[in-house]
Amino acid sequence: MQKIKGRKYFEGEFELPGDKSITHRAIMLNSGADGEAVITNALMGEDCVSTCRCMRTLGAKIAIEGTTLRVSGTPRFRRGTELNCGNSGTTIRLLTGFVAGKQIDAKLYGDESLSARPMGRVAEPLSLLGANVKTTDGHAPVYVSPAPLYGTEMSLLISSAQVKSAILLAGISANGETRVSEPVKSRDHTERMLAAMGADIRVNGNSVTVGKSVLKAVDVCVPSDISSAAYFMALGALKGKTLCKNVGINPTRTGILTAFDRLGVKYSLLNRRVSAGEETADILVEKSKMRAITITAEDVPAMIDELPLVALLCAFAEGETQITGAKELRVKESDRIRTTTELIRNLGGDCQETPDGFIIRGRETLVGGDVDSYLDHRIAMTGAVGLLASEKGGNVLRPECCAISFPDFFEKISGEC
Ligand code: S3P
Repeated sequence: MQKIKGRKYFEGEFELPGDKSITHRAIMLNSGADGEAVITNALMGEDCVSTCRCMRTLGAKIAIEGTTLRVSGTPRFRRGTELNCGNSGTTIRLLTGFVAGKQIDAKLYGDESLSARPMGRVAEPLSLLGANVKTTDGHAPVYVSPAPLYGTEMSLLISSAQVKSAILLAGISANGETRVSEPVKSRDHTERMLAAMGADIRVNGNSVTVGKSVLKAVDVCVPSDISSAAYFMALGALKGKTLCKNVGINPTRTGILTAFDRLGVKYSLLNRRVSAGEETADILVEKSKMRAITITAEDVPAMIDELPLVALLCAFAEGETQITGAKELRVKESDRIRTTTELIRNLGGDCQETPDGFIIRGRETLVGGDVDSYLDHRIAMTGAVGLLASEKGGNVLRPECCAISFPDFFEKISGEC
């Protein structure tokens, strides 16, 4: 249990952990590349540790020194391995495509929460390439066995970077070209990293084409994760002033800034620069009077992991917010439509669940109270922000799950309390 006091004012400058999505890809792709790569400012949260464990099991050599990783790709992958993906959806989905491309057999599995998440969305498109991927009633464990792959064209019905990436990672080993398109562009870190590693890849709007490619190892300096910075950005908007340093602002990830624009949150992007194909900035956010907003399906992919936090901000915004087109939240680490609604209500806010989103009536302040994490890291951190911004504060129950993406979250947030 973690106690959080309600605060009248919150101010500070923050260095946030490395980007989770980029760290996963830097480890996985370099494990399958020629040469050695150094990854700096890597996130060593539990999800990325799962990716390291799996790649080592497959034969890659990974030396870890704090947040610096040295990865030596393996020319020969171990067969018949059991790959424990822990709680990580990104690990299991990307790795299913990766393993299918390497012509080896493996079993991929994870914890209880991961075993409840859909895997048919990866197995089905991979089978269109000829891959032999079997799920357990649409879930993990997933079994991959060797089969020749042939490039093909496919349109995804949902926008998912995990699914798109699994197809691309198999596609670079397939004979012929593989083209995948999605309704709204999801995060494109895989495409950027494949290009930097010399892959045959072309991007045209929401569609990506890859040909058979050999990857060359590439050093990656990981920017700070906007999904982790978002909690401190929100505290600036609610309670004072925050500066988050060196945050990745890849346009497929900046939905939180779109939400800020609509809510009327005052922020500025300082010190903009580009590092390894990804733009970064220091983000300054100041206390702002917020008004209700509308979020629809096309906004969702760029703020998918921030939506619980956006919903919380709307609970403090004047008027009625409507969030639609966010059904994907139901298949995250928890059913985030249900858990976010309960969280806002437990804080004393007015939030109603709909099949694909929320209706939220904002209040000037929320009283506070105890909130559960439901063992979902993003819900735990959203709860902590809500409590800090509330009148009386309260407790986050089962807070340890923050270690999935932000191991020292409570130290950082309490340091300012
Ligand atoms: C991720 C993609 C998103 C996101 C997840 C990380 C990635 O999932 O929610 O936290 O690194 O590719 P979907 O691709 O399933 O939307």
